[in-house]
Amino acid sequence: MTIKLLQGDCLDVMQDIELGSIDMVLTDPPYGMAYKSGWSGASVAMDGTRMCLRMYKKALPVLVDLMAENAHFYFFTRWDVWPDIADMLSPYIPVKNALIWDKGHPGMGDLKSYGYSYEMIAFASKGKRALIGGRPGNIFKHNPVPNAKRLHPTEKPSALLEEFILRSTNEGDTVLDPFMGSASVGEVCKKLNRNFIGIELDKKYFQIAQDRISAV
Ligand SMILES: C[S@@+](CC[C@H](N)C(=O)[O-])C[C@H]1O[C@@H](n2cnc3c(N)ncnc32)[C@H](O)[C@@H]1O
Repeated sequence: MTIKLLQGDCLDVMQDIELGSIDMVLTDPPYGMAYKSGWSGASVAMDGTRMCLRMYKKALPVLVDLMAENAHFYFFTRWDVWPDIADMLSPYIPVKNALIWDKGHPGMGDLKSYGYSYEMIAFASKGKRALIGGRPGNIFKHNPVPNAKRLHPTEKPSALLEEFILRSTNEGDTVLDPFMGSASVGEVCKKLNRNFIGIELDKKYFQIAQDRISAV
Protein backbone atom coordinates (compact mmCIF):
# COMPACT_ATOMS: atom_id res chain seq x y z
CA MET A 1 0.00 0.00 0.00
CA THR A 2 1.28 3.48 -0.88
CA ILE A 3 0.16 6.75 0.72
CA LYS A 4 1.43 9.85 -1.11
CA LEU A 5 0.78 13.30 0.35
CA LEU A 6 1.71 16.20 -1.91
CA GLN A 7 1.74 19.88 -1.00
CA GLY A 8 0.83 22.44 -3.66
CA ASP A 9 -1.88 23.57 -6.06
CA CYS A 10 -3.62 20.48 -7.42
CA LEU A 11 -3.72 22.05 -10.90
CA ASP A 12 0.11 21.85 -10.94
CA VAL A 13 0.63 18.70 -8.88
CA MET A 14 -1.84 16.59 -10.89
CA GLN A 15 0.38 16.98 -13.97
CA ASP A 16 2.80 14.50 -12.34
CA ILE A 17 0.20 11.75 -11.74
CA GLU A 18 0.10 8.96 -14.30
CA LEU A 19 -2.90 9.10 -16.66
CA GLY A 20 -5.40 6.29 -16.09
CA SER A 21 -3.91 5.33 -12.70
CA ILE A 22 -6.77 6.40 -10.38
CA ASP A 23 -9.56 3.97 -9.44
CA MET A 24 -11.61 6.46 -7.43
CA VAL A 25 -11.71 10.24 -6.99
CA LEU A 26 -13.25 11.21 -3.64
CA THR A 27 -13.01 14.89 -2.84
CA ASP A 28 -14.56 17.74 -0.91
CA PRO A 29 -13.43 20.90 -2.73
CA PRO A 30 -13.50 24.45 -1.32
CA TYR A 31 -16.49 26.61 -2.27
CA GLY A 32 -15.14 30.02 -1.45
CA MET A 33 -15.34 30.07 2.33
CA ALA A 34 -11.54 30.49 2.47
CA TYR A 35 -11.91 33.68 0.47
CA LYS A 36 -14.60 34.80 2.88
CA SER A 37 -12.60 34.45 6.08
CA GLY A 38 -11.99 37.81 7.71
CA TRP A 39 -14.90 39.34 5.75
CA SER A 40 -18.59 39.49 6.43
CA GLY A 41 -20.05 40.49 3.04
CA ALA A 42 -22.02 37.88 1.10
CA SER A 43 -20.68 39.32 -2.18
CA VAL A 44 -17.15 38.39 -1.11
CA ALA A 45 -18.30 34.81 -0.50
CA MET A 46 -19.93 34.78 -3.95
CA ASP A 47 -16.67 35.95 -5.55
CA GLY A 48 -14.93 33.12 -3.75
CA THR A 49 -17.46 30.62 -5.08
CA ARG A 50 -17.06 31.93 -8.62
CA MET A 51 -13.27 31.70 -8.36
CA CYS A 52 -13.57 28.11 -7.16
CA LEU A 53 -15.93 27.20 -10.02
CA ARG A 54 -13.42 28.67 -12.47
CA MET A 55 -10.73 26.45 -10.95
CA TYR A 56 -12.97 23.34 -11.24
CA LYS A 57 -13.51 24.04 -14.93
CA LYS A 58 -9.76 23.47 -15.36
CA ALA A 59 -9.39 20.67 -12.79
CA LEU A 60 -12.33 18.41 -13.73
CA PRO A 61 -11.15 17.31 -17.21
CA VAL A 62 -7.68 16.61 -15.79
CA LEU A 63 -9.18 14.52 -12.98
CA VAL A 64 -11.20 12.46 -15.48
CA ASP A 65 -8.03 11.84 -17.56
CA LEU A 66 -6.26 10.54 -14.46
CA MET A 67 -9.05 8.02 -13.84
CA ALA A 68 -8.77 4.41 -14.99
CA GLU A 69 -11.11 3.05 -17.69
CA ASN A 70 -13.58 1.89 -15.03
CA ALA A 71 -13.61 4.23 -12.04
CA HIS A 72 -15.95 6.18 -9.77
CA PHE A 73 -15.98 9.91 -9.00
CA TYR A 74 -17.43 11.57 -5.86
CA PHE A 75 -17.42 15.39 -5.58
CA PHE A 76 -19.01 17.12 -2.54
CA THR A 77 -21.12 20.06 -3.62
CA ARG A 78 -24.02 22.33 -2.62
CA TRP A 79 -27.56 22.73 -3.92
CA ASP A 80 -26.83 26.24 -5.26
CA VAL A 81 -23.81 25.22 -7.35
CA TRP A 82 -25.08 21.74 -8.31
CA PRO A 83 -26.17 22.87 -11.83
CA ASP A 84 -22.71 24.36 -12.50
CA ILE A 85 -20.93 21.22 -11.31
CA ALA A 86 -23.23 18.87 -13.25
CA ASP A 87 -22.79 20.99 -16.43
CA MET A 88 -19.01 21.05 -16.04
CA LEU A 89 -18.78 17.28 -15.51
CA SER A 90 -21.21 16.07 -18.17
CA PRO A 91 -18.97 16.62 -21.23
CA TYR A 92 -16.26 14.44 -19.66
CA ILE A 93 -18.00 11.81 -17.53
CA PRO A 94 -21.63 10.70 -17.08
CA VAL A 95 -23.13 12.11 -13.88
CA LYS A 96 -25.23 9.28 -12.43
CA ASN A 97 -26.75 10.65 -9.25
CA ALA A 98 -26.79 13.30 -6.53
CA LEU A 99 -26.00 11.55 -3.26
CA ILE A 100 -27.20 13.07 -0.01
CA TRP A 101 -25.26 13.07 3.25
CA ASP A 102 -27.98 13.50 5.91
CA LYS A 103 -26.29 15.05 8.95
CA GLY A 104 -29.30 14.52 11.19
CA HIS A 105 -29.60 18.13 12.33
CA PRO A 106 -29.01 21.58 10.79
CA GLY A 107 -25.68 23.36 10.97
CA MET A 108 -25.01 27.09 11.06
CA GLY A 109 -26.16 29.52 8.36
CA ASP A 110 -28.94 32.02 7.60
CA LEU A 111 -31.06 32.14 10.76
CA LYS A 112 -34.06 33.46 8.79
CA SER A 113 -34.13 30.46 6.46
CA TYR A 114 -34.25 26.66 6.84
CA GLY A 115 -31.10 25.16 8.31
CA TYR A 116 -28.82 23.01 6.19
CA SER A 117 -28.97 19.45 7.45
CA TYR A 118 -27.55 17.77 4.36
CA GLU A 119 -24.72 17.96 1.84
CA MET A 120 -24.81 16.82 -1.79
CA ILE A 121 -22.24 14.69 -3.52
CA ALA A 122 -22.07 14.46 -7.33
CA PHE A 123 -21.56 10.81 -8.24
CA ALA A 124 -20.19 10.08 -11.71
CA SER A 125 -18.92 6.88 -13.26
CA LYS A 126 -16.35 6.26 -16.01
CA GLY A 127 -16.74 2.99 -17.92
CA LYS A 128 -18.71 0.12 -16.47
CA ARG A 129 -17.53 -0.14 -12.87
CA ALA A 130 -20.30 -1.56 -10.66
CA LEU A 131 -20.93 -0.66 -7.04
CA ILE A 132 -19.80 -3.36 -4.61
CA GLY A 133 -22.37 -4.92 -2.28
CA GLY A 134 -25.60 -4.27 -4.15
CA ARG A 135 -27.47 -1.10 -5.03
CA PRO A 136 -28.04 1.20 -2.05
CA GLY A 137 -30.33 4.22 -1.95
CA ASN A 138 -28.76 7.64 -2.37
CA ILE A 139 -29.24 8.98 1.17
CA PHE A 140 -26.51 8.31 3.74
CA LYS A 141 -27.12 9.19 7.37
CA HIS A 142 -24.02 9.86 9.49
CA ASN A 143 -23.32 12.28 12.31
CA PRO A 144 -20.85 15.09 11.53
CA VAL A 145 -17.47 15.09 13.31
CA PRO A 146 -18.03 16.89 16.65
CA ASN A 147 -16.59 20.44 16.67
CA ALA A 148 -14.12 19.65 19.44
CA LYS A 149 -12.63 16.75 17.46
CA ARG A 150 -12.44 18.43 14.05
CA LEU A 151 -9.01 18.77 12.43
CA HIS A 152 -10.52 20.84 9.60
CA PRO A 153 -13.63 23.12 9.63
CA THR A 154 -15.32 21.05 6.88
CA GLU A 155 -13.99 17.64 7.89
CA LYS A 156 -16.07 14.72 6.66
CA PRO A 157 -16.93 11.78 8.96
CA SER A 158 -14.88 8.65 8.35
CA ALA A 159 -17.98 6.38 8.44
CA LEU A 160 -19.42 8.19 5.39
CA LEU A 161 -16.10 8.11 3.51
CA GLU A 162 -15.63 4.45 4.40
CA GLU A 163 -19.03 3.59 2.94
CA PHE A 164 -18.14 5.24 -0.40
CA ILE A 165 -14.64 3.72 -0.53
CA LEU A 166 -15.88 0.20 0.24
CA ARG A 167 -18.56 0.45 -2.46
CA SER A 168 -16.22 1.76 -5.16
CA THR A 169 -12.80 0.14 -4.62
CA ASN A 170 -11.05 -3.11 -3.78
CA GLU A 171 -7.95 -3.53 -1.62
CA GLY A 172 -4.90 -2.26 -3.51
CA ASP A 173 -6.88 0.23 -5.64
CA THR A 174 -5.82 3.89 -5.71
CA VAL A 175 -7.95 6.77 -4.41
CA LEU A 176 -7.18 10.44 -5.24
CA ASP A 177 -8.27 13.45 -3.16
CA PRO A 178 -6.94 16.64 -4.82
CA PHE A 179 -8.37 18.86 -2.03
CA MET A 180 -7.51 16.65 0.92
CA GLY A 181 -7.63 19.14 3.84
CA SER A 182 -6.82 17.11 6.96
CA ALA A 183 -6.62 13.81 4.97
CA SER A 184 -9.83 12.29 6.31
CA VAL A 185 -10.03 10.29 3.05
CA GLY A 186 -6.37 9.27 3.35
CA GLU A 187 -6.86 8.00 6.90
CA VAL A 188 -9.72 5.71 5.82
CA CYS A 189 -7.70 4.49 2.80
CA LYS A 190 -4.77 3.56 5.04
CA LYS A 191 -7.06 1.66 7.40
CA LEU A 192 -8.72 -0.17 4.49
CA ASN A 193 -5.49 -0.97 2.61
CA ARG A 194 -6.17 1.28 -0.39
CA ASN A 195 -3.42 3.36 -2.04
CA PHE A 196 -3.97 7.08 -1.57
CA ILE A 197 -2.77 10.26 -3.27
CA GLY A 198 -3.72 13.46 -1.46
CA ILE A 199 -2.97 17.06 -2.48
CA GLU A 200 -3.31 20.10 -0.22
CA LEU A 201 -2.42 23.73 -0.94
CA ASP A 202 -2.44 25.10 2.62
CA LYS A 203 0.77 24.32 4.51
CA LYS A 204 -0.98 24.25 7.89
CA TYR A 205 -3.51 21.63 6.78
CA PHE A 206 -0.79 19.73 4.91
CA GLN A 207 1.10 19.33 8.21
CA ILE A 208 -2.13 18.24 9.96
CA ALA A 209 -2.68 15.70 7.16
CA GLN A 210 0.84 14.32 7.53
CA ASP A 211 0.44 13.98 11.31
CA ARG A 212 -2.93 12.28 10.91
CA ILE A 213 -1.62 9.71 8.42
CA SER A 214 1.47 8.98 10.56
CA ALA A 215 -0.80 8.34 13.55
CA VAL A 216 -2.81 5.58 11.79
C1 LIG B 1 -13.33 21.63 1.93
S1 LIG B 1 -11.67 21.42 2.37
C2 LIG B 1 -11.44 19.67 2.49
C3 LIG B 1 -11.58 19.15 3.90
C4 LIG B 1 -11.44 17.63 3.96
N1 LIG B 1 -12.60 17.00 3.40
C5 LIG B 1 -11.27 17.12 5.39
O1 LIG B 1 -12.04 16.24 5.81
O2 LIG B 1 -10.35 17.57 6.07
C6 LIG B 1 -10.86 21.82 0.89
C7 LIG B 1 -9.35 21.94 1.00
O3 LIG B 1 -8.83 22.22 -0.31
C8 LIG B 1 -7.67 23.04 -0.14
N2 LIG B 1 -7.41 23.70 -1.44
C9 LIG B 1 -7.97 24.85 -1.92
N3 LIG B 1 -7.52 25.11 -3.16
C10 LIG B 1 -6.65 24.10 -3.47
C11 LIG B 1 -5.85 23.80 -4.63
N4 LIG B 1 -5.87 24.60 -5.68
N5 LIG B 1 -5.09 22.68 -4.61
C12 LIG B 1 -5.07 21.87 -3.52
N6 LIG B 1 -5.78 22.11 -2.39
C13 LIG B 1 -6.57 23.21 -2.38
C14 LIG B 1 -8.04 23.98 1.00
O4 LIG B 1 -6.88 24.50 1.63
C15 LIG B 1 -8.87 23.06 1.91
O5 LIG B 1 -8.09 22.52 2.96
